[in-house]
Parts: sequence; C-alpha cells; structure tokens
Amino acid sequence: MNVLLIGNGGREHAIAWKLAQSKNLSKLYIAPGNPGTAQSGENIPIGATEIDKLVDFARENKIALAIVGPEDPLAAGAVDAFEAVGIKAFGPSADAAQLEADKAFAKHLMRSSAISNAEGQVFERFADAKAYIASRDEAVVIKAAGLAKGKGVFVCDEPSDGILAAEKIMCDRIFGAAGDKIVVEDRLLGEEASILAFVDGRNIYVMESSQDHKAIGDGDTGPNTGGMGAYSPAPVITDAMMDKITREILVPTVDGMNRNDTPYKGVLYAGVMITAGGPRVLEFNVRFGDPETQPILMRLKSDLLEVMLAVCEGKLDDVTLKWDPRPAVCVVMAAGGYPGEYEKGKIITGISEAEKLEDVVVFHAGTAVKDEKLVTNGGRVLGVTAMGRTIADAKAKAYEAADKIKFDGAYYRRDIADKAIKRTI
Ligand code: AMP
Ligand code: GLY
Repeated sequence: MNVLLIGNGGREHAIAWKLAQSKNLSKLYIAPGNPGTAQSGENIPIGATEIDKLVDFARENKIALAIVGPEDPLAAGAVDAFEAVGIKAFGPSADAAQLEADKAFAKHLMRSSAISNAEGQVFERFADAKAYIASRDEAVVIKAAGLAKGKGVFVCDEPSDGILAAEKIMCDRIFGAAGDKIVVEDRLLGEEASILAFVDGRNIYVMESSQDHKAIGDGDTGPNTGGMGAYSPAPVITDAMMDKITREILVPTVDGMNRNDTPYKGVLYAGVMITAGGPRVLEFNVRFGDPETQPILMRLKSDLLEVMLAVCEGKLDDVTLKWDPRPAVCVVMAAGGYPGEYEKGKIITGISEAEKLEDVVVFHAGTAVKDEKLVTNGGRVLGVTAMGRTIADAKAKAYEAADKIKFDGAYYRRDIADKAIKRTI
C-alpha cells in the first residue's frame, strides 16, 4: 500500500526507516521530509501544515494511510481532513489533539479523571498570574498553554523568576498566541520518563519505556530544548511502575477522552515524573516523541505499518509487539547556539563512517542538501542512535559514532543515558 508520512524531523526519519522495512509497503512519500527520509521513500515538497495540498496529493497518489508525525498539523485538523475524504489517518483528531495543544484542556481532563499531576492553575491575564505567583514561596513552573516546540516551560526556583517568565510569555508574547493562557504549577521532584502507547480509541498498547533529556546542558542544566537525547528502556520504569502508570494514567486518560467526546487514536505520550508519591503527569503529547522515537523504533521488531493500521481500524487487540531486548541510546547533535540563535548551512561529514559501526543509525533532523553537500538546516541536526548489549555499551557506541561526525559548531551532551547506567550498576 501507499503511505504518506507528514513531517521533517528526526522522528519522521525514524518512522520512515521503520516503515521501509514493512512487507506491506508499496510506496512511501514524506511531506516535506529531509535528506534522511529520502533514503527510505520519496520526499515531496509540501509543508506539514499545508493540509489541503496534502489531502489533494493523497487522493491523486492512492494513499491508503496518512501518518501525521508532528503536533502542529494534528492540532490543525490534518487527520480530520484525510478522514473526511475517506483516507485512513494515523493520529488524533484536532479536538483530541488539544490534549497537547492546550495545556488548560489537559489540566481539566486530568482533574475530571482524577489523574495525578502537579497542582496548578490556569491564567488568562498577566495581573492575575502575577498576583498568584507572588503569593507563593516555593519553586514554580510556568507553562505557555499552547504549542511552543518544547520550549514553553520555565522551571523557576524563585517565584520572582516565575513572574518574569509569565511576563515574557503573556506580555512580550515570545510564543505568540500560544502564550495567551499560561499554566502555573508546583514543581515536582523525581526522575522523568516518557511513556508512549498506541491507542485505537478503546485499546491501549504500551510501548517500551524511554527517557528524554530536555535541558541543553550536561547534568540537566540550562534551558529546555526539544530534546537532546534519549534512551530506551528506562530502568526507572520497572514493570510494576509501568502497570501503575497504565492503570492510573493511560486508562483514565483514554476513558476521559471518550467521556469528553474527543475519542483518542494514535500515539498517546505521557511525560511523567516518578516522584516519591508515585508517577505524576508533566505533560501529554499526542504523537511520537522526538528523540524518544529513534531509540524506541530501533528496538521495535514488529511491523510498524501493521500496528498503525490496527490503530486506525480499532483492532489493536489483534496486535502483539516484539521488542529487541537490547537497549538503545540516541545522542542529538545540535547546531551551536541552539535552543537560542544558531546558524545553518554548515557542511556535515562523517555520517557514512559512523554508520559503518554495527547497530548504529544516524537519523536526520535539521539537515538539507545544498550544492550536492549535506548541510545543517535546523537546531537539532542529527540523532545518532545505537543499540548495545547493555545501556553502557549502547552509550559508548552512540558516542563513538557521534565523534566521527563533524560540522562547524556541532554541540552534543556528553551524559546521555548516565541516569540509566547509574541505576543498572
Ligand atoms: P512539559 O512540556 O510540560 O513536559 O515540560 C517540559 C519539561 O519541563 C518537562 O519535561 C520537565 O522537565 C519540566 N517540567 C514541566 N512541568 C514540571 C513540573 N511541574 N515540575 C518539574 N518540572 C517540570
Ligand atoms: N521529546 C519530547 C517531545 O517530543 O515533546
């Protein structure tokens, strides 16, 4: 069958790479894709949020399944648009995508479904937010309610810093309309994990656990990014903890979405903090995580296309997923300056040397081809991903591979997976 995958990040390269292994795939198109996805299918020059053009393309090219990778087209109704013309689409409807696109919606759903999360309040006026934050004497977390590319959250030790963050979001409008509302939350302490599950409206199939590294600097220091590296599985998620998260978070979320008349289908991603009092939700995403997808899909042995079709057909109960037991680690190579200002167009070398290492795949994110050379074209440039016998082996191999890749200003964290390694020794 013909498949159209939408997006151009590292996540989409990983999805395309995995789909290309499916025996049921005839032709894979990626819109707009990147030089990495071009190795697994054909890139087409349509932007991820040009929904009308995507639908026209899908009709003209006999697309049987459209897969929407990023949150923006999901929130803009891409899945609804494909389904309206009878094309199966993987991902939630625009209404259901509010679970990520509107943190106030997510807070409300969690409250009405008794799902454990941080105490918090939603504000639409800066003066009200300021008064509330000023009344607090502990650390606060300030979140733009809308979509902000993973950068809309400020964890502030002091309430006075929280007021400054609220001002930047609501008055300076650094995230535009995404900051019309903010959520002010208590800070949770613990270790984070990403729990991704396939959901078909009714059935839930949890994938292997993973952990992202959101902060730019080693030791989780500095501002948050879209994610600087990830590994799977996350040892902090024991089997008992996964059961608890499924029972106390995933099941009530899917039930709550049904009660809310926004039934959920696609990948449900719960970002959780494992606190001393148990798992608590930090955020929901309505799609695969980036970069978590890279190590997760590297470990998936089953046919991704089959699972995605089962999700669209409400037949997830027919599916069994098989996983490679070996851990995988993804190190994100970023442009110098990211998540602030950075330059583009730096020549990238060494990818083929890196991929000569066994069980290493270099997923492209912000890359482009210019004058027949591969160059940087975004903040997160590559996701160097390796599987190993142990998490320490996988880490060593991912860094051995990353060290072979060069571009001007390349930056990557040196401590990806250290938390997992500490737990396993
Ligand atoms: P979110 O987009 O809501 O996941 O937030 C991004 C990151 O900010 C999370 O992965 C956490 O590292 C951090 N964060 C968000 N909410 C909280 C919270 N209530 N307490 C501590 N850290 C948080
Ligand atoms: N890695 C975090 C995200 O995809 O939002």
